[in-house]
Amino acid sequence: MAQYTLASLLILTTAYDPLTVNIGFAVLAGIITWFAVPALSEIFIKAGLKGMDLCKKSKQIIPESMGMVAGLIYLVVMFLFIPFPFMKWFAASQDGRQEELALLTFPHLKLAELLSALLSIQSMVFLGFADDVLDIRWRFKMPLPAIAAIPLLVVYWVNAGVTYIVVPIPLRPILGHLIDLGVLYYIYMGMVAIFCTHSINIMAGINGVEVGQSLVIAVSIALNDILFLQSSSSSAPAIETHLFSLYFILPFIGVSVGLFIHNRYPSRVFIGDTYCYFAGMTFAVVGILAHYSKTLLLFFIPQIFNFLLSAPQLFRLVPCPRHRIPRFNRGTGLMEPSRVILDQEAFDEEPLTIIKPRHGTQHLHPQQQMTLRRSASTASLGGSTQTGSSSHTLQESALPADPPSRSVTPPPGQLTPSSSSPSLFSFSPSSLIPSKSRHSPMPRTSLKRSGWICVKLLEALGLTQVRYDAQTGQRPIEMTNLTIMNLILLKAGPMSEQNLTLSVMLVQTICSAIAFIIRHQLVIYVYDVPS
Ligand code: UD1
Ligand code: MG
Repeated sequence: MAQYTLASLLILTTAYDPLTVNIGFAVLAGIITWFAVPALSEIFIKAGLKGMDLCKKSKQIIPESMGMVAGLIYLVVMFLFIPFPFMKWFAASQDGRQEELALLTFPHLKLAELLSALLSIQSMVFLGFADDVLDIRWRFKMPLPAIAAIPLLVVYWVNAGVTYIVVPIPLRPILGHLIDLGVLYYIYMGMVAIFCTHSINIMAGINGVEVGQSLVIAVSIALNDILFLQSSSSSAPAIETHLFSLYFILPFIGVSVGLFIHNRYPSRVFIGDTYCYFAGMTFAVVGILAHYSKTLLLFFIPQIFNFLLSAPQLFRLVPCPRHRIPRFNRGTGLMEPSRVILDQEAFDEEPLTIIKPRHGTQHLHPQQQMTLRRSASTASLGGSTQTGSSSHTLQESALPADPPSRSVTPPPGQLTPSSSSPSLFSFSPSSLIPSKSRHSPMPRTSLKRSGWICVKLLEALGLTQVRYDAQTGQRPIEMTNLTIMNLILLKAGPMSEQNLTLSVMLVQTICSAIAFIIRHQLVIYVYDVPS
């Protein structure tokens, strides 16, 4: 009896403090996700929701789309949480003397914000799951987040409707103090929703990286909210919006931690597009409704960089294979930059860099095996362009296959004979960037001029590594895929999958630290009133 009284007292006292309740729900959601994910794995596999880990020696089948479990648990706890921010009005309405006052002052728009935000997140969980099951084409799935954000934008219009931006101090003599963007502001917010969801989905593909980066962003958002809540200069509306942001972010951190335990290296579950969309929309929701979309974008610096780097492939200026994830080298067990074929014709014409030894590959020196696999994997990865066909077939095709066996004569300067086997050749670093190609006019290539310019520019900036044809040294044959993960491997050298995920999380954390410095220190040089 005493325990029940104590529990009731605890509930009654905390019920009036929504933040405490929210923290409780966040912890609860994390624990439930932690237990529910392995418990439901078998059911997902039976339902055909499974994928192959492309970066492992064993062809292990892993349950896919487990972000659905995290998303559902998140939605359930958020639905349960809905009454708590309004508890004092509910309590007052029970009191005959205050009933009228409670009805008059009830914050209907706050409730509408909460409900529309949950509707948008729920829609994205649903669309992400549909993408996992149906493998929706990029051109169709690209605008979906903006459509899912419409309920949110309508409530934004009814509620605040603020569509002006404060001009940074240095630009005020030209542009004035405020610019009203009008309808453009809503388009901008729709773009924020699109960007947040897809940018996480394209910075993906190695164990734990999607949840890892989302966790760093979510913790950064929570810290930013806490800083505002602690600050004595924060206005009442600012406190309210940052509190609102915390209500959404804390349970998200909870379910993400529960999922990360199973998704980190070595992954026992994949999170699927469901989680990427769910995470991105949750961030977009808090950025839009708590009015700090610019600060939010500061926490997305690595994703913005990855998007800009990926743009030539995303917009098909250069070929984009189905999977751009770094390549797993089975010989060394390390991750290496994956490559895409730029010019299939030149690639086919090119004398092969490898000769299959008479007795197969099993007796080769590991370095030689690596060379064989690299070429084989390049061919399979680069050969399949992203056409929206079944992910499972494509994942299989991305696995290293046996290399073709054609004998070759190595052209001078481009291929160096392996020291241990006269019949096997490996790339020499000098073959990757021939000096005479740098200043040449555009050679005959199946690349479009814009694509060729992109390749040269990215190469000059050190953002990709290009291999040219052996004969002229001018036709780009293949290059490393344009992603932040491949770039990390290019600069830091091959590393384990686990270390690569940690590197991405470290980059994300450093960028968050820079974002905090910009937002809380340098802002005084750009804006006079911290908002
Ligand atoms: C996006 C990327 C694609 C990348 C893929 C990896 C673009 C345009 N698309 O495509 O380049 O290869 O994400 O998720 O940039 N997988 C692993 N290990 C992991 C996680 C995933 O091997 O830790 C593989 C599994 O086979 C899994 C598949 O990736 O089934 C999921 O890929 P999917 O989410 O369908 O790819 P996209 O989002 O379309
Ligand atoms: Mg994906």
